[in-house]
Amino acid sequence: MEPVGIDAVEVWTGKLKLDLPETFAPQKGEDPDKYRKGIGLVGSSFPDLYEDIVTMGANAAKRLMDRKGLTPDDIGRIDVATESAFDNSKPVSTYIAGCLEQYFDGEFRHANKGERKFACVAGTQSIDDAYNWIRAGRNRGRAALVIATDTALYARGDPGEATQGAGAVAMLIDEDPDLVEISNEQGYGSMDETDFLKPNQQFPSVDGKRSMQVYLSRMREAVEDFESVAWDMHPDDFAYVPFHTPFPGMVRKAALLGYRHMSRDTEIEDALADEIGRQPREDDYASREAYEDAIREYMDDLKETEQYQAWYDRTIEPTLNISRQVGNWYTGSVHIARIAALQYAAEEDRDLAGEKLLVGSYGSGAQAEIHAETVQPNWEQEIAQLNVDAQLQARYDLSYSEYEHVHDSHNHEKGAVDIDDFTEPSDEFVFTGWGRMNERQYEYVE
Ligand code: CAA
Repeated sequence: MEPVGIDAVEVWTGKLKLDLPETFAPQKGEDPDKYRKGIGLVGSSFPDLYEDIVTMGANAAKRLMDRKGLTPDDIGRIDVATESAFDNSKPVSTYIAGCLEQYFDGEFRHANKGERKFACVAGTQSIDDAYNWIRAGRNRGRAALVIATDTALYARGDPGEATQGAGAVAMLIDEDPDLVEISNEQGYGSMDETDFLKPNQQFPSVDGKRSMQVYLSRMREAVEDFESVAWDMHPDDFAYVPFHTPFPGMVRKAALLGYRHMSRDTEIEDALADEIGRQPREDDYASREAYEDAIREYMDDLKETEQYQAWYDRTIEPTLNISRQVGNWYTGSVHIARIAALQYAAEEDRDLAGEKLLVGSYGSGAQAEIHAETVQPNWEQEIAQLNVDAQLQARYDLSYSEYEHVHDSHNHEKGAVDIDDFTEPSDEFVFTGWGRMNERQYEYVE
């Protein structure tokens, strides 16, 4: 069977930045270390006034198609994953295709376009749809374009305001991919949950603390489900483990749980037994409560061990290098975690071909998905083409009052806000206003 997976990726960050420890925390009367150490974010990306989910997605896709020398005829499918859509009928992919058709010769007239919604897991679900379409032999030799694009804004004053972000990731899904092959095996943890939702409203209703519990529970179920069809995993099976990253502090919690699970009944548990004891087994406890207390104590100790910290620094920390600077990109978040890890490996000159990644995606509402990926021989040439660092460096650094204006300008209820763009667009798609049927309109500017 030909491998199917991610052939190429491109990233587009919102062009504005809010410095969380330096600019946001003092205004909130908070300790900057809550951001640097606790939440783990130093910056959030925001769209400039002429940017939105369409421009960010189209600009990422344009870079990808330009670089790979693709024309619309090469693409048989465009799926956009987003939880920031502005239309309940016309999918964002049609707007993005319309933008790309302004720039490339040809049309996506015979491509299947859609929009995927399941909070932040929809980007991974779209990859899945593309994978299945290719495996079913319905692609006629064409590739799929998957675009995860979001503007993650929370209401002013909501605790989630600390974890905002905006950006897009475009991914080309193809046979014989250059970057990673995707495993046929998958695991799911899925339940009807009311932790984070947007019932026809722009800003989310969030039960922050509960959302973190739900993330961990669904992720654990997905890991067990994956193991039931794949293999009993060991922490050293994977070069990196990119997780959905609403903020790095969340991944710290998920990684510890994952390590405990994967090291159970291995030589790691044996080696740690003298230092912190063996992992508690439920059968050894009189009540669930007593067992949970013992687990909590074991986890606190495990977190401090050299073995765990070395694994975390090697396998998890590099996945957070971009997220830390941009905040939550919702559907794109797990995909920038993968990119961050691969970029780090390239900088370290690590020979990664043939090594495995374990990818943990999550969407509120709630569903986690686990699959494995195998890094392909051309990964380094592909990842070297990205300019993520340059994009991050070029962002305009907002003052707090500018941030307030930007938030208002993207607030659908506030109407037009009388401020100028902060940056000058060039060689990119921009939002130009509304048409006669209230459709959004876009132009390519040189
Ligand atoms: N120094 C060091 N650490 C500090 C600190 C300081 N001065 N002050 C606080 N901290 C630590 C806290 O101890 C805490 O860490 P632990 O959880 O490990 O204890 C961390 O910083 C955050 O502090 P708080 O819990 O006090 O922060 P908060 O109450 O303001 O809210 C939040 C945090 C609940 C995550 C909030 O930002 C939120 O609601 N976010 C949106 C929801 C979300 O992202 N949920 C994640 C799971 S759901 C999901 O993944 C889907 C999605 O994308 C939304």
